[in-house]
Formats: sequence, structure tokens, C-alpha cells
Amino acid sequence: MESEGDLTKKENIEERLSAKEYEKASEELIKQFPLEWQEDMHDDLVEIDEDDEEGLKDFYLALKERFEKRDDAIKQKFSAYGKEERYFKDHLPPGLTKELLERNSKEYQELIKDIASDEYKKAGEGLSAIVKIKEAGEKQEGLVSRVCFKNIVRYENYKNDNSIKQELKLQNECLKIKIPGNRCRVPKPYYYYMDKYTHFCAMEYIDGGTVQEILDEEKPLPEGFETDKFFNDVLEYLEEMHKRKIYHRDLHKGNIMLEFKGSDPVIIDFGKSIDANVGYTEDPYKEGGSYLNDIEALKGMRTEMISFINKKKGG
Ligand SMILES: Nc1ncnc2c1ncn2[C@@H]1O[C@H](COP(=O)(O)OP(=O)(O)OP(=O)(O)O)[C@@H](O)[C@H]1O
Ligand SMILES: [Mg+2]
Repeated sequence: MESEGDLTKKENIEERLSAKEYEKASEELIKQFPLEWQEDMHDDLVEIDEDDEEGLKDFYLALKERFEKRDDAIKQKFSAYGKEERYFKDHLPPGLTKELLERNSKEYQELIKDIASDEYKKAGEGLSAIVKIKEAGEKQEGLVSRVCFKNIVRYENYKNDNSIKQELKLQNECLKIKIPGNRCRVPKPYYYYMDKYTHFCAMEYIDGGTVQEILDEEKPLPEGFETDKFFNDVLEYLEEMHKRKIYHRDLHKGNIMLEFKGSDPVIIDFGKSIDANVGYTEDPYKEGGSYLNDIEALKGMRTEMISFINKKKGG
């Protein structure tokens, strides 16, 4: 721990820097962040006038704080991880062999370090992760379109959540749920990779939109969408999960998707979920924090969807 005196001393040294020096120090610091963020950070930096000493200093200090927070989080969360990976071979769709997935995962690992690359396009983004799919076309080299890669980018949020391994394990567990006539499901896990610096996974890509995107009209509501069928299926699925003592706990509008083909509901993102079979759990929503109640969250979403549809009908 540094004493306050040390900090003041540092502050004083920094105060003496010129605008140009702050700019240079910021540039050096930006290089320490994940490549995916560097472009945005750089854009923010160049927007500041080169003579604006105060502005450049504030930018540098904010960046430094962010770096230190992130560094701390990584140290806490990741120092324990050796390299670990697993293929869920039984779930791979036709055309996606383990070898192909392996090749693409390696390529993806390289490419996520290269921000300029647009070979993988964004499917969505959450508080901890960015989800990407490989662009269709020549470069696809047979990688079936139903694969997406979830890559952890905001470690400061991720550190309190499940590891990507735990997340896929829970999804795998949910795959056992089979309810006749019910179309709700979770994306099939294909692969995960973790080491001290990188955590990502590959899973079934859902061609659809989140409830949030539908309500925001960023994605269209599929023709023939039936509100009751959709929400009843999710409810029944959640009840079955709960019977098996699996609780999602983060069922906000960005974590339920609606597949364009057939309007099937898909529950995603098991980053805050818990398997209450493991260890004693009095209240799964209170265990180690405070979480969203699955059923209550779903009810809220249903109400919003109904008023959204009514509003659209009303013109
Ligand atoms: N299997 C998938 N198929 C298609 N799109 C997906 C898939 N998984 C995630 N997405 C998209 O990526 C977004 C972010 O993914 P996810 O919710 O897993 O990340 P997160 O950072 O853990 O989110 P949160 O902010 O809820 O913690 C989703 O809201 C969705 O738009
Ligand atoms: Mg999410």
C-alpha cells in the first residue's frame, strides 16, 4: 500500500508534465489495453486540443485509474488460471469438426488482438463481453454460420461473475432439459479457452434479436410472434431449470433472445447463474450478492412486450 504522501509526490511529478508529455504518456498507456479498445481510446485522445494541458492531464489520469483498476481485477481473477480448454464435441453441428473449430478458434484468438480486422463482425455486446461471428463468404472456409465467439473484454465486470468455463458448464447442464411442445432453449456450447490473459468461448449462434433490441426497434419483431406462447415457454423452461436447482439470476432484456425463424425463445448469458446443487444455498438470489429474480424479471419483460405490441397495433 502506498501512503498518501507517496501519492501526493506522484501527483506533483505529474503536475509538472507538459501537454505534450501527457499526450505521450497517454499513448504509452493506451498500448497496455486490449487492442479492441485502443482505437476508441485513441480517438478520444486526439479530440483533445494539443495545447490543452488540463484536458490532457485529466485524460491521462482517468486512463491511469482505469488501467490500475483493470490490472487489479486481472490479478485477482486470473492469476489462478493456467491454460485450460475444452471442446463439447457431441454438440458440434454437421460440418463443424473439432479440427475446423480448433483452427478458427486459434485464428480468432489472433484476430481479436487485431482491431483493424473486420473478419469477425459483432453480434452483440454486454457489460463483460463482446460476441462476434465470422463474416460469411470465401474466408469462412467451411466454418458453419451457427457459431459465435464470446470474448471477455471488460475484466473489471467479469471478475465477479462465473468464469467462461462455469458459464458453458451451466449451459451444457440446461441442454438436458427437454419439455414436449416447448421451444425455449439455450445456445449449445462448443468450446472454451482460458489462460491468464484471454477468456473466450465458442457456442451456437442465434440468428435473432434480444428482447431489448426488439423493444428498441433495432431488430424486427418476427411475423407471427405469439406473446403468450413465447413467455409461457420461457416460464416453463425456467421452472424446469429451478427444479434442477439452476438459477439464471441475470434475466434482463439483453439476455433473452428471440430467434427470427419461428420466434423461438433462447436464454443466453449464464455469467451470473448458479447451480444450487453445489454447496448449501438458502436463497439462490442472495447467495454472494443480490441478483435478479428469474420469474419476476420475466414478468416485467412480458408486460413491456405486451404494451409494445399494443402500441404498434394502435399505430
Ligand atoms: N449465442 C449467441 N448468439 C447470438 N448473439 C449472442 C449470443 N450470445 C450473446 N449474443 C449477443 O451478445 C450480447 C452480449 O452477450 P452476453 O449477454 O453473453 O454478454 P455479457 O457481457 O455477459 O452481458 P451482460 O451485460 O448481460 O453481463 C447479447 O446481448 C446478444 O446480443
Ligand atoms: Mg448479457
